[in-house]
Amino acid sequence: MSESKSTNITWHLGEVDQAKREAMKGHQGAVLWFTGLSGSGKSTLANAVELALHNRGCHTYILDGDNVRHGLNKNLTFSDEDRMENIRRIGEVARLFSDAGILTLTAFISPFRSDRAVVRELLGDRFVEVHVKASVEVCESRDPKGLYQKARAGEIKDFTGISSPYEAPESPEISVDTGELSIEDSVAQVIGYLSDAGLIAAS
Ligand code: ADX
Repeated sequence: MSESKSTNITWHLGEVDQAKREAMKGHQGAVLWFTGLSGSGKSTLANAVELALHNRGCHTYILDGDNVRHGLNKNLTFSDEDRMENIRRIGEVARLFSDAGILTLTAFISPFRSDRAVVRELLGDRFVEVHVKASVEVCESRDPKGLYQKARAGEIKDFTGISSPYEAPESPEISVDTGELSIEDSVAQVIGYLSDAGLIAAS
């Protein structure tokens, strides 16, 4: 599916590169890849981290599953194949944002290890995997969109955690236990990692 069907195309290198863009912004164009079950807190945490980064003067952008599926990826379902294509496209979009020198935060369930590994490969050391960790039981008890209830009633097929698998990361750069930590502590954990890793300036 991801093989190239275009022919007679040539990569064009511009005068202004990623390093120049990053130098202007004073931070790296890294990608914070939030992965976890629906209702685990990916969007909430990504938004709170974005605000903290913005307040430190970082240039940020969020790509969020529910939002992106309203536009760019509106033609994709929740079949395994379409989820793979969803993540492939977001990986490529995140790479463009990273090349633009932007600290990019993505909030997608991204349930399959192999799909996340492809994005990691694409982004190299600019890929920071953040496991937003909460059990199915915790997510189901929160059920912010009422989707678990619908999935249990058989009204949604292939629902992650119920009728479709979620493969948790084995060695994520950051693992945030949102079942245990407050949002403030979760944000502090992520910002602490970025600062220690030299992706943003230490405060
Ligand atoms: S992913 O698996 O392809 O990465 P993505 O993050 O884009 O998923 O979209 C997940 C969001 O779509 C969920 O937060 C939920 O609101 C909604 N959704 C609708 N149907 C499903 C489903 N079958 N499984 C999981 N999420 C679903």
